[in-house]
Amino acid sequence: MSHQTVIVLDFGGQYNQLIARRVRECGVYCEVKPYTTPLSQLRAMEPIGIIFTGGPGSVYDQDSPQVDPDIFTWGVPVLGICYGCQLIAHNLGGRVTAAQADSAREYGKTETFFNTGCKLFKGLPEEGITWMSHGDYMEKVPEGFALVAHSDACPNVAICDEARGFYGVQFHPEVNHTVNGTAMLRNFLYEVCGAVGDWTMGDYKQTAIRQIREKVGDGKVLLALSGGVDSSVAAALVAEAVGSQLTCVFVDHGLMRLNEGDEVEAAFRKWELKFVRVNAEERFLSKLAGVTEPERKRKIIGEEFIRVFEAEAKKIGKVDYLCQGTIYPDVIESGGGGKSGAAVIKSHHNVGGLPDYVDFKEIIEPLRLLFKDEVRQLGRELGLPEYLVMRQPFPGPGLGIRVIGEITKDKLDIVRKADFIFRDEIAKAHLEGTMSQYFAALTNMRSVGVMGDGRTYDYAVALRSVTTSDFMTADWTRIPYEVLDRVSVRIVNEVSHVNRVLYDITSKPPATIEWE
Ligand code: XMP
Repeated sequence: MSHQTVIVLDFGGQYNQLIARRVRECGVYCEVKPYTTPLSQLRAMEPIGIIFTGGPGSVYDQDSPQVDPDIFTWGVPVLGICYGCQLIAHNLGGRVTAAQADSAREYGKTETFFNTGCKLFKGLPEEGITWMSHGDYMEKVPEGFALVAHSDACPNVAICDEARGFYGVQFHPEVNHTVNGTAMLRNFLYEVCGAVGDWTMGDYKQTAIRQIREKVGDGKVLLALSGGVDSSVAAALVAEAVGSQLTCVFVDHGLMRLNEGDEVEAAFRKWELKFVRVNAEERFLSKLAGVTEPERKRKIIGEEFIRVFEAEAKKIGKVDYLCQGTIYPDVIESGGGGKSGAAVIKSHHNVGGLPDYVDFKEIIEPLRLLFKDEVRQLGRELGLPEYLVMRQPFPGPGLGIRVIGEITKDKLDIVRKADFIFRDEIAKAHLEGTMSQYFAALTNMRSVGVMGDGRTYDYAVALRSVTTSDFMTADWTRIPYEVLDRVSVRIVNEVSHVNRVLYDITSKPPATIEWE
């Protein structure tokens, strides 16, 4: 099925996939292309509009990313964001310079005033908060452009030449902090580019199925299944594409929650697909013995997963493809898969935690560019039950990254029991729907307590619960005190070697959701 296309031209900014995701949210198909893509290739895509992303460079630097100037005579509308805006100004006769410290350099939330006569801001309030992150300043705006937004510090927060269809904003409309940011992008798509909104998650599903069929041909696929949302959605997608060629392998690494291995097996045995369970607790725990450093743990777990999959693939015979349910936040937190220059926050087991050599012809990751809530939408599209689609995420390295410090079977049992009690009390209080992810972690800290007139010197368990939609940022959940109280009392009474319970009240950033 053909649909309108918007190109997001990537200049290396942090939020490029977020821009793409917002465009998809507005019902328009889009593709992110590197800024080096030849103009002829961009033309062949017949886009209805182009969005230049932000980027870390300064347009006046010789070696900063540039754009083919012919793009401006092509006749396709362009929206430039931050660096992209400065690029428009720089190419069309304006002048961009480094802002002086006391003038127009802006970071963070900024009160901004809009000219709502401009199509970009049509129908929106004249005043609002935008999120800025720019150190450069458009000293001279190109001829033919109007100034259509300003802040106290900066007279030219947004520019446009409506006759030619060029728009530029110094702020980031794609981030949640910019109030009405998505509405501005929607205006660009619908008011300027003439979008009709002909793209849905159903289309994504069809395109993904077609691409998987083209890639795999009559080859065999081994899918790494954890029973979580991402790998379950990936399994349903690949099953629909090449069902009989697919085997799902679930590795029980001994780092699962209480009863989880059996629950996953019971659930997936009901599906019409080839399902293999591998019990590998001993193998994983022996490799992890004595290891305390979080990144090291992640790499060991990532490598062991692959070695188990390779062994299973040999048993099946002639398996070319390993399929993983990797999603975009896994990629970006692992440092952008090495291509974007993004910092490594933690090596997600399926991206940064992969070993250098993987004995498969190719790894396929059909969800790699989707955010969590989009994956859930796709799951619904594929007919997965709501309880599975809305399951709270559980990281591939499992309790391995929820036992701080050295991992032992005893510590795993402690955190398993504490986590079970926490989940049980949340369920009894009917609070599951109010939180996105909640769990217990075993701190590596022991402290003094008193129980039955005697001294104890035992572990502190930390409870964590967050509310988020995309898992890139998150807030801690305001769980009622009485529920926290019940959880705390039960944990210290029912779980040996725990005499203290803490509740983590840190948002992400600055913390992350998991403790390691
Ligand atoms: P953080 O801790 O980075 O987590 O804020 C964001 C989300 O990702 C999950 N997570 C992982 N998922 N493999 C996964 O499959 C991993 O290595 C991994 N590390 C974190 C985490 O549970 C949260 O939902």
